[in-house]
Amino acid sequence: MSELNLILLGPPGAGKGTQATRLRDDFDLAYIATGDLLRENVSEGTELGKEAKSYMDDGALVPDELVIKMIFDKVEDDGDDGFLLDGFPRNIAQADALAEELDRRGRKLTAALLVEAPDDVVIERISGRRVCSNGHVYHVVYDPPKHDAVCDQDGKPLSQRDDDREEAVRKRLSVYHETTEPLIDYYEERGLLRRFDGTRSPTEVHDHIRASIATLRLEDEL
Ligand code: AP5
Repeated sequence: MSELNLILLGPPGAGKGTQATRLRDDFDLAYIATGDLLRENVSEGTELGKEAKSYMDDGALVPDELVIKMIFDKVEDDGDDGFLLDGFPRNIAQADALAEELDRRGRKLTAALLVEAPDDVVIERISGRRVCSNGHVYHVVYDPPKHDAVCDQDGKPLSQRDDDREEAVRKRLSVYHETTEPLIDYYEERGLLRRFDGTRSPTEVHDHIRASIATLRLEDEL
């Protein structure tokens, strides 16, 4: 069976990370999340992290040359048997760079999974989001941890992300609409786009994505 090379698209707070956690377990894929990798670099105080932090805190995109190298290194290290990219690509230049890199290696994308949700929904979700330092995600109302402010999976304390302040969230949304949304047409034109209604419950969204991936695999085998 050929490898699954997937990307997750959608506005901040649509539920990409929530679905990614489930999908990587289902399909045993290397999960590569730009935001998590950048936050790791920030907390470790690397050169990349120092450069990225101010952009991230403002809700702006980190410059392409930093992000592209970081992602390709990770795909090379971990993504040989298939990958799930979350947060990359985020603009046309990154999408072109990814297509060229895969082409060079004789590989191709299987699909771009778009999780859609309107601005008012994502603002409400992000304001209630809590995360642990291993990146497990909760929501104080929609997906609360069993014990207050403690991660169910590793017992680490939960906190709010630095860029989840309202001002940064509004900026991230406007960057998404201006810079990332054109990727919807980009992948639609290439026959790779699959759309999912991110306003449904996490389990329903997950079921829909899984069914769609099963269909893609069947089509691939025919
Ligand atoms: P990143 O970490 O990628 O943030 P994002 O894209 O803004 O996405 P989020 O993590 O905010 O949202 P999500 O869709 O994963 O939602 P989640 O599942 O957590 O990027 C951060 C920053 O890094 C960027 O701003 C930029 O500076 C930089 N960066 C990253 N990639 C870059 C790139 N390629 N180029 C340049 N710069 C880059 O869900 C949200 C909440 O809702 C949670 O609380 C969850 O519990 C809840 N929830 C989820 N699904 C549901 C549901 N179905 N119903 C109810 N609640 C739900």
